[in-house]
Amino acid sequence: MKKILKWIGIVVLCLIVIVVAAALILAGKYNKLADKTYTANPPELPVPTDSASIARGAIIAASICSGCHGGDFSGTPFFDEPKIAQVPAPNITKGGRTASYTTKDWIRTIRYGVKPDSHGLFIMPSKDMGKMSDADLMSLIAYMQTVPSNDKTWPDPTFTFMSKVMAGAGLFGALYHAEEIDLTDYSPRTAPEMSTSPEYGAYVVGFHGCKSCHGDQLNGFKSPDPVSPPGANITPGGNLGKWDLAAFTNTLRSGTTPEGVEMDPKFMPWTAIGLMSDMEIEAVYNYLKSLPALPDDETVVKYKEKQK
Ligand code: HEC
Ligand code: HEC
Repeated sequence: MKKILKWIGIVVLCLIVIVVAAALILAGKYNKLADKTYTANPPELPVPTDSASIARGAIIAASICSGCHGGDFSGTPFFDEPKIAQVPAPNITKGGRTASYTTKDWIRTIRYGVKPDSHGLFIMPSKDMGKMSDADLMSLIAYMQTVPSNDKTWPDPTFTFMSKVMAGAGLFGALYHAEEIDLTDYSPRTAPEMSTSPEYGAYVVGFHGCKSCHGDQLNGFKSPDPVSPPGANITPGGNLGKWDLAAFTNTLRSGTTPEGVEMDPKFMPWTAIGLMSDMEIEAVYNYLKSLPALPDDETVVKYKEKQK
């Protein structure tokens, strides 16, 4: 009997050692990624000064960046779960992180996900925003340089040991977009002519990163985030099949769908997306309507079955 107990004790002890070692390795893997530096040396492009370009930049900033950095770009708590991690989206006005930004720093940050100090940007969706045409990117930068300065400050991000282990295990998906971007691709990027065409809509959907939440085929996707509802099927196979342009526009601008679902901007950033121009919204609508009517993605089907 004593012998058996002794062996059970040894096995339990070994298991504990293995679990602790695995946790330390995973947390170490995350720490290494956070410390990693990247080289991206894109050519500097001219910053436009005409009012039409700056107005275009204002729309892009409002419809994408404001969702995380706030309407006046002075920052938001963004991810704020003290038991997991606290990561503010910082103040990106001249009074904040971008005080000494050169034009090249702006390009590197937005398109390549690399900060002026060469570290990767945490969470910021540069892989999608980087698809913006050179003209749109430079209009955005021109506008950002005109944003009134604000001196709000935010604490540095903090991560619990557990969140580092989870991050190291890849449970949160892509944390540093610089890992997945070709940092040597400096080829010029163009956009289809701005119009309500499905082609232009596909371009807008691309740099807005709709696919990162709605799936590669836009027929829905359940993210690993346990508290988020699934990104809906936005092909004509979903509710969108029944909507006209007015219903679609109203959904993005009011946050409430024709079926009466009130969308939480924390999960579906409609407060920003709804600030796209009328032309962009119509182009996105025409693009989504041109897609095949796909059934819900299986991650969504599984989620809905569990909810029953
Ligand atoms: C999904 C949320 C999200 C969106 C959308 C977003 N950002 Fe960020 N951004 C962040 C987070 C989080 C950080 C902090 C990253 C870090 O410190 O590693 C950040 C940091 C920055 C920084 C500071 C980098 C530095 O030097 O420390 C700049 C500049 C910036 N973002 C610009 C933009 C612009 C311009 C847009 C719109 C085109 C945008 N961001 C859209 C989340 C976002
Ligand atoms: C950060 C993740 C995220 C991004 C980015 C995102 N969405 Fe969503 N979207 C969601 C989630 C989650 C829902 C479901 C909300 C709910 O059920 O409360 C949703 C719902 C919707 C709906 C309502 C669909 C329905 O049938 O009720 C539409 C329309 C929509 N999104 C369009 C878009 C478009 C267009 C884009 C890109 C411009 C986009 N979304 C980008 C997460 C996202």
